[in-house]
Amino acid sequence: MKMLMLYFSGTGNTKYLIQKLEEQWKEHGVDHTTVAMDEFEDSQTHLMEEAEVILFAYPVHGSMAPMLVWSFVKKYASYFEGKKGIVLATQWMFSGDGGAYLGRILRKCKMDVIAIDHFKTNNNISDVSFLKVKNGASNDSIRVRLNQQIELFAIDYVNGRHRKIGDNATSILLGAIQRIPFSKWERKLAKNVKIDSKICTLCNVCVNGCPAINLFNDETKIGQNGKCTICYKCVNACPEKAISIMTKHKPKIQYKGL
Ligand SMILES: Cc1cc2nc3c(=O)[nH]c(=O)nc-3n(C[C@H](O)[C@H](O)[C@H](O)COP(=O)(O)O)c2cc1C
Repeated sequence: MKMLMLYFSGTGNTKYLIQKLEEQWKEHGVDHTTVAMDEFEDSQTHLMEEAEVILFAYPVHGSMAPMLVWSFVKKYASYFEGKKGIVLATQWMFSGDGGAYLGRILRKCKMDVIAIDHFKTNNNISDVSFLKVKNGASNDSIRVRLNQQIELFAIDYVNGRHRKIGDNATSILLGAIQRIPFSKWERKLAKNVKIDSKICTLCNVCVNGCPAINLFNDETKIGQNGKCTICYKCVNACPEKAISIMTKHKPKIQYKGL
């Protein structure tokens, strides 16, 4: 069955998952195409039409999918009807129904959601001091566990064994406890990326990397369009550590990915 993998990744964890899955699909002979949602163009909708299975992968943000993923699903909803759907969510700790939440939306798009899974990765929120960021060898054990989980997921998929993590009343309730306050906060954060103009060198690393096309350089400062998807790519990539989102504290350690 031809599969289209659509993913969004802010700081690389979800991209890592997708790259490892591609290795698995090669080994198992699964016919697939992969496109990042933030690079997807309207001229590529034929990929959706041709696919029998569409896999969505994204980082959990407050027990939800990032805003960029919502916009994507809303825009292309009509292409999902009648297809089989898979939702894979990467998360640092816990989300309840972080994957199943998108699963429910996809069902409303008349998709047959066959699998939902969560993959444990790392924290990438680097401007909140009590949330620790790990890099390099400290991530070895997480990588080993993640690789094993990806391998098992792939074997299950080719054998037609599917699980739907978080697709139950308890997980929905636990997810909602996180989601309800976070979704309000998220809308405020989307308009308030904090960039310290005193130390910003206008190097454009943040502008060029922003998947939401939120940041721009107006020659005197980095401006914003109010549509940050809170992926933390800029916070973790800024060479001057001049950016923060959830707090006013600049990151001591930036997350460098898996
Ligand atoms: C705004 C935001 C909210 C997050 N919320 C959660 C969460 O609710 N539960 C969790 O376990 N991890 C949460 N995380 C951690 C990410 O889901 C995790 O690090 C993910 O693997 C990052 O993927 P990426 O590198 O592909 O962007 C959050 C991260 C961000 C930036």
